[in-house]
Amino acid sequence: MPIAETPEVMTTQRKLYIESYGCAMNFSDSEIIASIMGEHGFATTQDEFDADVIFLNTCAIRDNAEQRIRERLKHLRSNKKQNRDLIIGVLGCMAERLKDKLLEEEKLVDVVAGPDSYRELPKLVAEVDDGGRAINVLLSREETYGDLNPVRLNTNGVSAFISIMRGCDNMCSFCVVPFTRGRERSRDPQSIVHEAKELEAAGYKEITLLGQNVDSYLWFGGGPKKEFKTLTEEEKAMSVDFANLLEMTALAVPGMRIRYSTSHPRDITEKVVLTMAKYDNICNYIHLPAQSGSSRVLEAMNRNYSREWYMDKITMIRNILPDCGVTSDIISGFCTETEEEHLETLSLMEWSQFDYSYMYKYSERPGTPAAKKFTDDVSEETKSRRLQEIIVLQNAISKAKHHAYIGKVVEVLIESESKRSSEEWKGRNDQNIVTVFPKGNYQKGDFVKVLVESATTTTLQGKAVG
Ligand code: 5AD
Ligand code: SF4
Repeated sequence: MPIAETPEVMTTQRKLYIESYGCAMNFSDSEIIASIMGEHGFATTQDEFDADVIFLNTCAIRDNAEQRIRERLKHLRSNKKQNRDLIIGVLGCMAERLKDKLLEEEKLVDVVAGPDSYRELPKLVAEVDDGGRAINVLLSREETYGDLNPVRLNTNGVSAFISIMRGCDNMCSFCVVPFTRGRERSRDPQSIVHEAKELEAAGYKEITLLGQNVDSYLWFGGGPKKEFKTLTEEEKAMSVDFANLLEMTALAVPGMRIRYSTSHPRDITEKVVLTMAKYDNICNYIHLPAQSGSSRVLEAMNRNYSREWYMDKITMIRNILPDCGVTSDIISGFCTETEEEHLETLSLMEWSQFDYSYMYKYSERPGTPAAKKFTDDVSEETKSRRLQEIIVLQNAISKAKHHAYIGKVVEVLIESESKRSSEEWKGRNDQNIVTVFPKGNYQKGDFVKVLVESATTTTLQGKAVG
């Protein structure tokens, strides 16, 4: 159905409110959902009480992420009381994990849809209109939504996400993602470049290429993932790996900043880092989750690399890009982790000098290899204490690293007004560090040279210079 054009139809257009949880990929998916629903006559609204349909695009990565959704669903009871025709959908990873159990457990939920069934959403909503409840949690080996034009939601008009692949084949033993997002598949590079150009034409200045493991991006004409060595000669000739994709994007939109996430220590290549070095518009920033500093724990996590391998990758990055920002994810208290192994994590953090880390307590996810193979045997108290030690160390490292910027000039892309003061702009430097400075005559979307004058654990503060 075309988008409604006449004023009469516009007034009867139904309204969709989407709330996103979890990772950037989910926020990017919500823009795909808005696009699909838009083609079927739904306009997005920012006001949940004005909505005919509310979708929660959910995360299942840790138990507390799911608890948050359960709490939110409780609150939505009052929305439904006010509007009996309100349709509530649970989408994304929690929907995929719990499937029809979610319909049994949460009586007010009308629609359950997994990450690969968003094209079916208008049909699922129509089924609810007809008086039923609707579910589709089929995973696909090919869906990339590559042909769709995402509707940018809650945008600052400056930076946007582009999804370059879906799913994950890594099977890290703690992780539910391979079960909720299915098999890994890469999106047609031409559609990625096209999306980047459209964003540039719309005035955007920065894109972030998204995938669970961008280093295993491989396009060879579509279909389920294959290893490069198993491609036919014809497929090899047209294949595009992640370094090629980065280069294509950097050349296609030379005035835009390009970022990407997430890298995998096993798969990141020198070719990718050399490509970053070759193009000024690819930001010097890599998110390279270590998870643990102990080779034994890494093996239990099925990460397929050792502590030494990880250190070699950091050395390779710093040799090629000495001022590259590197951040990490760390899990405390994974099954069987000993005190010495925890200390190895601290020492790896110290050695790596991460600019920042996302730090978590291990949360057992039902059905994952770790849940099947191991007992969640590190006590809650120990997990919390170890996490606290990890956080204290990271904060000290972040603070020292940020202090080292004092007196230096960094380039900042202005994203929005600073939360603290309407007199200041907020943006990020090349290394992804939040930087704040007085507005002067600059505008949102400007690239500004900023002299750093002070720094905290999270932020650089300075003044614009030229
Ligand atoms: N418990 C705790 N943290 C987890 N992560 C993934 N699964 C779990 C889990 N079961 C973390 C990892 C990953 C990040 C996205 O979330 O550090 O890199
Ligand atoms: Fe999960 Fe590992 Fe895939 Fe990341 S790479 S989504 S942690 S399985």
